[in-house]
Amino acid sequence: MTMGHSVTVARGRYEAWTPTRGSEIITEHLPLEGAAMPILHAMQATFGYVPQDAVPMIASALNLSRAEVHGTLTFYHDFRHEPAGKHVVKVCVAEACQAAGGRATAAKISKTLNVGYGETRPDGQVTLEPIYCLGLCSCAPAAMVDGRLIGRIDDEEIEEIAAECGA
Ligand code: FES
Repeated sequence: MTMGHSVTVARGRYEAWTPTRGSEIITEHLPLEGAAMPILHAMQATFGYVPQDAVPMIASALNLSRAEVHGTLTFYHDFRHEPAGKHVVKVCVAEACQAAGGRATAAKISKTLNVGYGETRPDGQVTLEPIYCLGLCSCAPAAMVDGRLIGRIDDEEIEEIAAECGA
């Protein structure tokens, strides 16, 4: 029996990028103050990443240069530039989790899934990302698999995550 603790389930499949859908998202968020960030977040939430083709569209809608939009996009490490894998595993690397052995857990997850942080495995099954606090500090070390929070991660839990991701 696993020591892990599932808290929530969320997130469906991402939509495929189309310029039409991209333009709808831009129009929807255009009235917002500082619309670039909300648009970029909405793009990532919809497509799982921010497609390069979206950059000139956002720039022209907001009257910014492409370089400005690109700068925002690359400054924030949360934004993905390539489509995510079928599964997205985010492992907390913040303080409380580190204090609970999170560093070793994070390394073991990477080794077991056979993918580095910030990378997508070549078979497209899984993207692994570090994240800074999932709000689950009391159940450290914590991770999130496809939107599902998992606390008190142990070896058995890591094996389950790996099985889910087809490692
Ligand atoms: S520090 Fe890891 S969940 Fe808060």
